Amino acid sequence: MNTVHVPASVPYDVRIGPGLLSGLADAVKSLCPKAGKCLVVTDDAVGPLWLEKATRPLSAAQIPFSVYTLPHGEASKTADDLIAILNHAAAEHFTRADVFLALGGGMVGDITGLAAAVYMRGVDYIQLPTTLLAAIDSSVGGKTAVDLPAGKNLMGAFWQPRAVLCDTDTLSTLPRADFLSGCAEVIKTAVLFDEELFALLERTGPDFDRESLIARCVAHKRDVVAQDERDTGRRALLNLGHTLGHALEAESGFALTHGQSVAAGMAVVCRAAAAYGICAAEVPARVDALLARFGLPTGTDAPFDALMARMLSDKKRAGGAIGIVVPEQIGRCSVRPMATDEAAAFMKAGL
Ligand code: GLY
Repeated sequence: MNTVHVPASVPYDVRIGPGLLSGLADAVKSLCPKAGKCLVVTDDAVGPLWLEKATRPLSAAQIPFSVYTLPHGEASKTADDLIAILNHAAAEHFTRADVFLALGGGMVGDITGLAAAVYMRGVDYIQLPTTLLAAIDSSVGGKTAVDLPAGKNLMGAFWQPRAVLCDTDTLSTLPRADFLSGCAEVIKTAVLFDEELFALLERTGPDFDRESLIARCVAHKRDVVAQDERDTGRRALLNLGHTLGHALEAESGFALTHGQSVAAGMAVVCRAAAAYGICAAEVPARVDALLARFGLPTGTDAPFDALMARMLSDKKRAGGAIGIVVPEQIGRCSVRPMATDEAAAFMKAGL
C-alpha cells in the first residue's frame, strides 16, 4: 500500500492499494470515532459491483449504514440530487457526528462531498474513488460541487475529506474507455509537473503499474493543494486543457467524456503554445503522440464560435481576462492571463 499525506487545513491521508474496502470499518472507527452511522452514496453502475464489498465490513463491525444510490453519469450532479441526498440523511436522522462515504467516480465524490459540507453545517466524509480520474484528481483536494444549468461545478464548497481510500481492486471493473479517459488526467499531470513520468508513459502506454502511478500523481496534486488549497493561485495549473475541455464537453452534450475533452483541450493548447513560441514544437508532437497511444482525441471539429462562446462564459473568466495554462516544456507549465479576444486567437492557433 502507498500512503500520501495531504497537509491541508484539515490534514488527511490518501491510501492507495488493493483490498482497502475490506478495512473500511476500521478506517471509520479510527478516523471518525464519534460516528454512529454511515451514509454510503454511490451510483447504479458502481453499486452493483462494489457496494457489498464496502458495506460487509461495516455490517461485521455492527456500524449501521444507509445507502443512497444515484443514477450514474454527470446528469445526476445537480442541486436537486444534492437536496435529495440531504433529505435522505435528514429522514434517516443522521447527526453532525455521522460520516458520509462517497463510493464511486468523480460525480459521486463531488456531490457527496458537497452534501457533507452543508449537511448540518458540515459532517465528515471519506472518499472511496473507484475510477482512475477520481483516484488521481477529484477525490483529492477537497473541491466539492454540483452543476447548475449555467455550467459545471458552479455550486460548491471546499471541504476536505477525512481520508481517501483508493482500493485499486475497483479499477478492475472500470470499463476500458473510462480507464483511458482517466489516463488523460495522468498525462496532464506529467505535462504539468513530471517529465520523467511523461517518458515512463511513452514507454509503457496504458500498461503502467497502477498503484505506484496513482501515488505519484496524487503526490503532485498534494504539493499543489498544500500550497494553494482554495484555488487562488498555483492550483489553477491543474486546469491544463480544462478551459477548452469544459467547452468541448458541454458542446458535445457530454457525449465526450471529461478525459477525452481534457485531452483534446490539452492538445490544442500545446499546439497553440508552440505556434506562439512559448514551447518547442517537440512538445505538441510528443503530447499528440502520447494521447493517440492512449486512444484519446487530439483535436475537435466542433464549431469554433460555439466553443469560444462556451469557453468565455466559463467561471474561470475574471475581470475580462481568462487564465490559460500553457506548457513551457514537458513538466513545466504556467498560467497566462489573456483578454478574451487574445484567448480566442490563441485557441484558434492550436485548433
Ligand atoms: N481538479 C482540479 C482541482 O482540484 O483543482
